[in-house]
Amino acid sequence: MSAYQIKTLEDLQTWRKDLSAQNKTISFVPTMGALHNGHLSLVKEGFKHADNVIASIFVNPTQFAPGEDFESYPRTIEDDIKKLENLGVQAVWLPNTDDIYPDGVQSDIYIEGVSEPLDGEFRPHFFGGVATVVARLFRLVSPDVALFGEKDFQQLQVIKKMVREQSIPIKIIGVPIERDEHGLALSSRNVYLNDEEYKIAIQLNKVLKNMADGHLNEIAAIDKLLEIGFDEIDYCTARNSKTLGTENPDRVFAAVWLNKGLGKTRLIDNIKMK
Ligand code: PAF
Repeated sequence: MSAYQIKTLEDLQTWRKDLSAQNKTISFVPTMGALHNGHLSLVKEGFKHADNVIASIFVNPTQFAPGEDFESYPRTIEDDIKKLENLGVQAVWLPNTDDIYPDGVQSDIYIEGVSEPLDGEFRPHFFGGVATVVARLFRLVSPDVALFGEKDFQQLQVIKKMVREQSIPIKIIGVPIERDEHGLALSSRNVYLNDEEYKIAIQLNKVLKNMADGHLNEIAAIDKLLEIGFDEIDYCTARNSKTLGTENPDRVFAAVWLNKGLGKTRLIDNIKMK
C-alpha cells in the first residue's frame, strides 16, 4: 500500500481534518529517518493504539551542536518511505525547516530536571532541541498517541514531562529497545562503526547487563568498558528511571565513544536493573 506523502503544512492540515471528520484516531512516530527495526517496532506498536499511523522524517537541526554530525547524519528517504509503506503506514510527513522553524532555527523549550543529568550534561543543547521540535510536530499533527524508543530513555522522560508541562493532550508510549543478534541496541548511527569498532560495540550491553545484575559497580563497569576498547566514557551509571537522579536507581545508563574509524561514534544504551 502506498503511503500519502505530505510535503506541505496545508496538506497536513487537510489530511488531519479529514481524519477528524471520520472520527479516526492517529498514532504518530516522529523520526529523523535512516530507519531501522527499532523505528519499525514503534510503527507496529502504533497500529495497536490507533486507526492510522503517521510517521515524520525530519533531521532536526536544533538538537545538534556545532561540530556534531548534523550534515553527515544518514539520510535514506526513499528506503525509509518503502519500509514505512511495507508496514501499512497511511501517511509520511516530510517537513522542511521553514515548516518547523518559520522564525529561525532555535530552541524555545527547556524541560528542567530530567533534561539536566547524563546526556543533558554532555550534550547541553540536545534536550532543548528535542523538546522544541517534538512540541511543534505534536501541535501540527495533533495525534492521539505518540511513540518513542526506550533506547533514548532520557529523551522519553523529557517528552513525557514536556507534554505534562505544556498541557499537550497526547498519550506518550515508550517501546522497548530493539537489538541486533549480538545485543547491540539498534541506532541510525551504527552505520558509522567499522568492523573493529562493531566488535567492541557489542560488548556494551553485556557490561550493562552485568551491572544491572549487580556483578559490577560503576567504577568496575567503566574500567571494563575501557579495557574492552571503548575510547571515552561519558557516563556509565545507575539512575532512577523517572527522575534520572541517583536516588532509588532502577536502571543503568551508558554513553560511550568509539574513535577508531574515520569519525567519532557515540553509542548510548540502558537496561533495567534486577
Ligand atoms: O529520537 C529521534 O529520532 C529524535 O530525537 C526525534 C524524537 C525524532 C526528535 O527529532
